[in-house]
Amino acid sequence: MATKVIKNGTVVTADLSYEADVLIENGQIIEIGKGLKGDEELDATGCYVMPGGIDPHVHLEMPFMGTYSTDDFESGTRAGLAGGTTMVVDFCLPNQGESLLDAIKRWDNKSTRANCDYSFHMAVTWWGEQVFNDMKTVIEQRGINTFKHFLAYKGALMVNDDELFASFNRLSELGGIAMVHAENGDVVAEMTAKLLAEGNTGPEAHAYSRPSQVEGEATNRAIMIADMAGVPLYVVHTSCEEAHEAIRRARMQGKRVWGEPLIQHLTLDESEYFNPDWDHAARRVMSPPFRNLKHQDSLWAGLQSGSLSVVATDHCAFTTEQKRNGLNDFSLIPNGTGGLEDRMPMLWTHGVATGRLTPNEFVAVTSTNIAKILNCYPKKGAVLVGADADLVVWDPEKSKTISASSQQSAIDYNVFEGKEVKGLPRFTLTRGQVAVHDGEIRTQEGHGKFVEREANTTVNKALSTWKELTSPQPVKRSGIPATGV
Ligand code: URP
Ligand code: ZN
Ligand code: ZN
Ligand code: ZN
Repeated sequence: MATKVIKNGTVVTADLSYEADVLIENGQIIEIGKGLKGDEELDATGCYVMPGGIDPHVHLEMPFMGTYSTDDFESGTRAGLAGGTTMVVDFCLPNQGESLLDAIKRWDNKSTRANCDYSFHMAVTWWGEQVFNDMKTVIEQRGINTFKHFLAYKGALMVNDDELFASFNRLSELGGIAMVHAENGDVVAEMTAKLLAEGNTGPEAHAYSRPSQVEGEATNRAIMIADMAGVPLYVVHTSCEEAHEAIRRARMQGKRVWGEPLIQHLTLDESEYFNPDWDHAARRVMSPPFRNLKHQDSLWAGLQSGSLSVVATDHCAFTTEQKRNGLNDFSLIPNGTGGLEDRMPMLWTHGVATGRLTPNEFVAVTSTNIAKILNCYPKKGAVLVGADADLVVWDPEKSKTISASSQQSAIDYNVFEGKEVKGLPRFTLTRGQVAVHDGEIRTQEGHGKFVEREANTTVNKALSTWKELTSPQPVKRSGIPATGV
């Protein structure tokens, strides 16, 4: 089997930076050291050799709000690779009454075109005996240990608190991890109806209908319910101080909770919704909406201090034409924005180049932390002998202006249009195959493989041990008092 060697770079992992070559064979790293030789050489002079990015939050070809998100597993993973991301995790969404296993079949069919490795989270979109039973099969036979719950999207994906508690309890039993989209869907529905009745129909009203309080409330509620059920909790798209505050407090109390800000919320703000161009504003409609500087500062501080763990994209890309479904009613604008190609360069430019993050922290929040949470480390998220050769050779001097005209995504605009980034991949490797070669895209459709992830992670084990130790116990009494009859 031919070997490849990445030469003359600096290996940067979540906890170390050092000069070394990396030798690859059969899709895996087989040696790390100085002066290595291989059949093919990739020159990393002046570059950082890092674990490829993992984006744990994408929606490729997602059926949503009367349409399908436009980037599919082919264009979505191609966009990811172009920006240094080598693994994505999509959300498998059962229809009402549909078995979880049937939903997985639909996702299996869509994902055969992936250019890089991928995994699924399962969503709990309804509750019943079938879901209860299927959860065990999904975990034990399909290698999916993460289950998402929508507290928003009333009448569609939303689950109520009784269902949430039942599902969290089941996950606790099975050693799974709970995830939540945390916005109070009842309040959002009420505010949406009121805004529309008052003639607030434009995209700016999307932001008015989902203030930070609805996110803070739902995040805190999910944390408390997860604590009562004894299940670890991962909060997706944490966008505001109120939600971050709840996560920070929970972590300081020893609760097993992680928060995931998106690159969009870190770098774009609510003024986008006040743009006089309807298309410009509608293209940026997503939930939660972009916020103001106070919230952005909170998210950056969370990444710096470790109270927030992962930067994702929630890549869910709709064309301008699809967005125009909501021309007369903002609540019909499909929710979602793109970001797969831009997450790593934008985070490097606004995080590492500004001194907010170290290069090692960059690796932690784009790759290693989530690989550990999802239980696929060190196969993914590591530069170690035996790990998959999912690598990015990162050139901190390479720059470009982000533009829809040169992007891989299939949509007709980019929410980061015109932004300058400095820090881009020279090479991206997916299981040893060079998918990006100095600006040239060499992806191979169907190369991506499903990544199975076992339940009962070390965090699950620690939490269940602690919960058992502190669970309610009957008081042992020496005798029962006479009833006095
Ligand atoms: O607006 C968003 N975030 N769309 C994708 C679905 C979701 O809520 O994650
Ligand atoms: Zn969501
Ligand atoms: Zn514009
Ligand atoms: Zn999402």
